[in-house]
Amino acid sequence: MHAPGYDVDRIRWHFPALREGAAHFDGPGGSQVPDTVATAVVETLTSAVSNRGSVTPAERRADRIVVDAREAMGDLLAVDPTGIVFGRSATELTFHLARTLAAGWGPGDEVVVSRLDHDANIRPWVLAAEAAGATVRWADFDPATGELEPDAVEAVVGERTRLVAVTAASNLIGTRPDVAAIADVVHAAGALLWVDGVHASAHVATDVPASGADFWVCSPYKFLGPHHGVLAADPALLETLHPAKLLPSSDAVPERFELGTLPYELLAGTTAAVDFLADLVPDETPSDQTRSDESPRPRRERLLTSFAALEEHEDSLLAALEERLRAIPGLTAYSNAKRRTPTLLVTVEGHEPQALREGLAARGVNAPAGHFYAWECSHHLGLGATGGLRMGLAPYTNAEDVDRLATGLEAICGGDA
Ligand SMILES: Cc1ncc(COP(=O)(O)O)c(C=O)c1O
Repeated sequence: MHAPGYDVDRIRWHFPALREGAAHFDGPGGSQVPDTVATAVVETLTSAVSNRGSVTPAERRADRIVVDAREAMGDLLAVDPTGIVFGRSATELTFHLARTLAAGWGPGDEVVVSRLDHDANIRPWVLAAEAAGATVRWADFDPATGELEPDAVEAVVGERTRLVAVTAASNLIGTRPDVAAIADVVHAAGALLWVDGVHASAHVATDVPASGADFWVCSPYKFLGPHHGVLAADPALLETLHPAKLLPSSDAVPERFELGTLPYELLAGTTAAVDFLADLVPDETPSDQTRSDESPRPRRERLLTSFAALEEHEDSLLAALEERLRAIPGLTAYSNAKRRTPTLLVTVEGHEPQALREGLAARGVNAPAGHFYAWECSHHLGLGATGGLRMGLAPYTNAEDVDRLATGLEAICGGDA
């Protein structure tokens, strides 16, 4: 089955890295990058660019790059561009904001984290709470189903809760909790909701206001862009916060939160990545002259069309992969939630995850093994520090990749490694 308008061959053609020949299931760790993103990075580095300003063309170019990238991320996340903060990584932004928010916490205050999360959305809160003398409470997911129910969050939220940190999708097992329902619980208690959208924003259309999140972090290198992090929040909320900053640096929102000079070349790459995503399903070629004079549909609308088709594409490949995996003797799948991304974690009796990974690598299939920093999640699943074999689909994954992966695993687990 094919998603309407989703031409995976056309999409793959834009990824020079795929010509090296591997089948990539390592996207949850970082996706491959299309040529348009690489070109935007190179063109920025080879153009006249200086610090942001309005006097020289080089200053104006730097300024335009930042404004464009905020607009692109605003379209991707459905937020006001002036609420977009750029940083080194989602981890760095979370630590930075955790320290900022914790300045208002004290003994008796509580912070809720979840065992479904990547450590980037746990440890910054645990350490900030410790430093403030606040208490950490844990929301548990069900290891059998992989579900993190809103009830499990409600059970640990109380009138002293200041902030709840939760993932929009697990990078280990793909679970997508009902963030909007969790937001209702959190807001009813008068607390703030911090959402880790790093894994989710690569697979499903993101609408931060509709999700109820007060803060949403993501990382363009997970959705075809370069390596940096992004935080989105209502600018009015950001105005109330006062992070540590240099004395002469701007106190405006969002610049107040951005430490040092921004990576202009990476931001140009991120704008190109959002444009590439918006064009996963290109608008129909105009059939007559009058249409060709019309401006393109707004980028947000095109993103919604593209993500709907991407989800369908990835889900159909996921179903095909799961069917093949189910037939492998001794295989346990940990990705069982009702709503989830196309990211599978498995173990196979009698085979160490690292051995599976190496066996696949020898066959040109890149599927890493481990806990992927979802440390609490891996332990809660009973997999400790070893974790499992993780297979993640991406916009460029095709049926042949899936066949190579499944055939490789069948051969290895059949004793052919
Ligand atoms: C769900 C999730 N959250 C957070 C992170 C950390 O992102 P960054 O590398 O931008 O700090 C990752 C990275 O793998 C992730 O998958």
